[in-house]
Amino acid sequence: MDAIDNLLNRVSIPRLEGPAPSADQLDILFRAALRAPDHGALRPWRFLTIQGDALYKLGQLYVQAALQDEPGLAAEKRTKLENMPLRAPLLIVAIAALQEHFKVPGSEQLIAAGCAVQNMLLAAHAQGLGAMWRTGDMAYNATVKKGLGLSEHEQIIGFIYLGAPAKGKPVPQLEVSNFVTEWN
Ligand SMILES: Cc1cc2nc3c(=O)[nH]c(=O)nc-3n(C[C@H](O)[C@H](O)[C@H](O)COP(=O)(O)O)c2cc1C
Repeated sequence: MDAIDNLLNRVSIPRLEGPAPSADQLDILFRAALRAPDHGALRPWRFLTIQGDALYKLGQLYVQAALQDEPGLAAEKRTKLENMPLRAPLLIVAIAALQEHFKVPGSEQLIAAGCAVQNMLLAAHAQGLGAMWRTGDMAYNATVKKGLGLSEHEQIIGFIYLGAPAKGKPVPQLEVSNFVTEWN
């Protein structure tokens, strides 16, 4: 796919199905992530891949987390949480690992990690994969973070759902002039 077409036409795909991305496709995603602009070359990111039975385990972790806040969790909510990770055959958990740095503030490191995720979305689209960047309550939940092995200085910046697009989506058309002004 032409690089500009890829940039102008990437969309998030909420409805995903199997197969999961291949090892080669994933490798390209991660190599793209590692090309994100990165002040100080701090590489303030890391990634987990979750697929197969581990998706069910993640659903159980969500339930465990929710039960801590809400011991009488309704069956409906429980099922919703269990099914959340099953919306795609593979998830990437994108983690920002911010460091104390004399020159590069945490906000810049967070932006760099976000750029790494966007590079993955573009690499997914270029390879015909469907992808969607999600967060939600579980991304900010301490039990979930612990269960996924994050340390104190790390944060989940996204659950990237990946698979084959089950249903396409039109590209939103925005007017450039609404966002761009010449300053002089
Ligand atoms: C940090 C971040 C978190 C997001 N979390 C969610 C989410 O939890 N649920 C959701 O529906 N969309 C979420 N989105 C938005 C979608 O990824 C997507 O950008 C949006 O649906 C617009 O679709 P588009 O990318 O095709 O323009 C998130 C986006 C970002 C950047």
